[in-house]
Amino acid sequence: MTKSITNPFFTSLLLLLFLSLIRVAAQEPVKVFILAGQSNMQGHGEMEKGEKGNLNWVVANDKNGEFQHLKRKDGKWSERDDVFIYTWDKFDSIKTGKLSTGYGAFKHTIGPELEFGNVMGDHFSNKVLLIKTAWGGKSLAVDFRPPSAAGEQGYNRVPSQPKDTGYYYVQMMSTVYKVLRNLDQYVPGYKGEGHEISGFGWHQGWNDRANKKANAAYESNLQHLIKDVRNDLGSPELPFVIATTGMKGWEDKNPLGLSLMNAQLAMADYPEFKENVAVVETRDFWRDIEDSPSKQTYHWCRNAESYLLVGKSMAHAMLDLLDSNKKFKPEVKHVATYNSDYLTPTPPMGWNSWNAFEKDIDEKKIMNMADIMVSSGMRDAGYEYLVIDDAWMAAERNEAGQLVADPVKFPGGMKAIGDYIHSKGLKYGIYECRGDLTCQNLPGSFEHEQTDMDSFASWGVDYIKLDACFAIKNGRLSSEDLDVYHQAIVNTGRPMVLSISDFGSGAWAWGGKNYGQLWRTSGDIYPTIRSVYNCANTSGGDGSIHPAFQGLWQFAGPDSWNDPDMLQVGNLKTTLEDKAHFSLWSILAAPIMAGNDLSQMTEETKEILLASEVIAINQDARAHQGYKVFDKDSVEIYNKPLSDGTTAVLMLNKGSEKTDITVQFNTIGLQGKQKVRDVWLKKDLGEFDTSFTANGLGKHEHVLLKIGSKGATPVKGPDPIPEEAYTVTQAGITYLSDIYYMLKKGNAPVMDANFHGKPIKIKGRKYKKGLGAKSKSSAMYRLNGKAERFKAIVSLDKSSPKDATGQFKVMVEERFGGRVLFDSKKIKRGDKIEIDIDVKGLDFILLEFTGKKVFGNWGDAHVTAP
Ligand code: GLA
Repeated sequence: MTKSITNPFFTSLLLLLFLSLIRVAAQEPVKVFILAGQSNMQGHGEMEKGEKGNLNWVVANDKNGEFQHLKRKDGKWSERDDVFIYTWDKFDSIKTGKLSTGYGAFKHTIGPELEFGNVMGDHFSNKVLLIKTAWGGKSLAVDFRPPSAAGEQGYNRVPSQPKDTGYYYVQMMSTVYKVLRNLDQYVPGYKGEGHEISGFGWHQGWNDRANKKANAAYESNLQHLIKDVRNDLGSPELPFVIATTGMKGWEDKNPLGLSLMNAQLAMADYPEFKENVAVVETRDFWRDIEDSPSKQTYHWCRNAESYLLVGKSMAHAMLDLLDSNKKFKPEVKHVATYNSDYLTPTPPMGWNSWNAFEKDIDEKKIMNMADIMVSSGMRDAGYEYLVIDDAWMAAERNEAGQLVADPVKFPGGMKAIGDYIHSKGLKYGIYECRGDLTCQNLPGSFEHEQTDMDSFASWGVDYIKLDACFAIKNGRLSSEDLDVYHQAIVNTGRPMVLSISDFGSGAWAWGGKNYGQLWRTSGDIYPTIRSVYNCANTSGGDGSIHPAFQGLWQFAGPDSWNDPDMLQVGNLKTTLEDKAHFSLWSILAAPIMAGNDLSQMTEETKEILLASEVIAINQDARAHQGYKVFDKDSVEIYNKPLSDGTTAVLMLNKGSEKTDITVQFNTIGLQGKQKVRDVWLKKDLGEFDTSFTANGLGKHEHVLLKIGSKGATPVKGPDPIPEEAYTVTQAGITYLSDIYYMLKKGNAPVMDANFHGKPIKIKGRKYKKGLGAKSKSSAMYRLNGKAERFKAIVSLDKSSPKDATGQFKVMVEERFGGRVLFDSKKIKRGDKIEIDIDVKGLDFILLEFTGKKVFGNWGDAHVTAP
């Protein structure tokens, strides 16, 4: 016996078993319960005050031993290691920590949370988090009025002031999401196990008694509250426990009081609430005034026992519901917490106002979009950010130099609309521009960087789209400019995603990832399939980089996303085009920012935006951007290796001829027989040997497939282009035509030939090395601080029109800095200029050639390095 236990084999087996048990325990999601209401949910049960009925007294006179667990042996109040609480109310404001006494309205009081939490903690092996939001003196008729009870279209303006209808509903829901996004802060030891919203408890009503109209509407308002909370949380069967407002016990004969309690009791009888709403009758918990610390009847005479019993019975009613309601399957959700390693571990998803509405936005529209993001299922499919684009701001800053909302479009201000967005479980995005004006000539952030980032942080912004109109006047390179914003954001202490919107000025090359999480690769997208293809080609093809790179995939990854601009899905001519667009963005791991008017969305558009397997390819944890493996005669094939051992393949026919497209498995990292699944059809197509053919694909038709087997060794991606192929690394001469440019705009330069592929000739002399250009053209080369001088001989090619003029410029890094190292000014055919300039210490130079349909040659273009 003894021997077998010490046997190393068994010991390690036991150890393994033990470790796996810990793992299981550690992986349990956090059970989250929301407790909400007014002052009696805040809790006024005295701990010490008064002679009788305070918590001390209750524990001391506890004949049945019901409440002994509240005190430790040493007489101190117990504290739980497995139940945590976050409370927000107007007295002590935010209180958080391990569940114990003192989480009532004051530090010397308790509320229903105490026994509710104790019951839950004893029942579940998971960690439990209570989120308690409660404010005294608030009614369901006004303060908590749920959106659907406010009128068919919800609130007609954003609830921005505490007195506004619905203000506390919005605060309650936005608090829930705020806490969920910071679980690691509120649940000690939280390691991303996820959470389950398990139930909602409501204890409120006093202020709806007095007012006759409010009293009459209470039943309907409460019904709406239950529906709206469930809808907003995306949990239609969420268990709901209502504790009646039972103060004064069975003696209460006030007809308004009775009708309010009857309205609460009635909830349990609604057929749709039968299995999932419980009402706790609390009148038995009333204790006489003489046996209580206070005469305040509307606060249960501040009797601690009453509050303990309310909480305990709510918890038991909740457990009964969780037991009996078979339809409730709490989903384990994983919200990326602010403190996680990455703000955008996978490409950000959301909706942005620009493509749908341009300048024509206002708070009503935005609220409506937020509502639809929830009701359409978009939020739960991953569309997380709601980004308000240009033209939200007033034409003038305030006296303190701060940005203010356009008073007509957003009368409630930008904090209130943010609260509303948060209350829907969405994140809040906003637009600004690093020029002195935005692209719509409104105040930009130049020279107000910190002020504006501070404003955004104070409004609860989670995502900043930072545009670049007029930034050319700033005199700062993009990298310098963005460093200012990055620092300003860090200074706010609030993590905010920075989306670099610069028309594709090479952020992948000059280090955009040091400042932001995503960057544009293209000019603006328009609602035509041509524009969609062009934008896609800047990220997935040679639209913005040398073709050898096979697109920008090697610069993508967590917090580094290539952004070919926002979606036009729903705005294109046909469903076929919309689908091709969505598949391209999916395979390119592009940020998915829907840009259609959600209120006009057709079923087809919705199906595309919600296509779960297509989204899953985009959001794959391996974070590998797809790359082109075939591009010929309008047929393209892309490959995106996934985390599950399979690989995603897009085969697209951009041409007008019907065609068959075949993918050879050995071109996508696989060999032999492979399984193939069509992700749009959600259908396995079978096993195929060495290749797969999609037959008869018409114009814009495509298939998006997953090929291979789950659990197989991950498919190897392509090898990245090594640095020495696009960087000056050697001493002596490096011809620019011997390294790959990292950014090109307009016509790509031709290497060692004029634009037509013929030898470069300048004034009769042939140049073996050099670059041939056609206007307009610019190309960025990486010198890496290694080079000393740049030299070239420039002139117009003789194929240029006779009277043509052209201009050659060499700039530092990219165009936003406006730092010109050399400018030929306009030259004519026959002119020849020798360039020999200092480029010491520069990381990048940009060669630009402009003019009207003219050809130019950079003869002998090279740098020298020591
Ligand atoms: C630029 C951006 C667009 C949009 C508009 C707003 O053009 O690229 O995405 O934000 O500005 O003015």
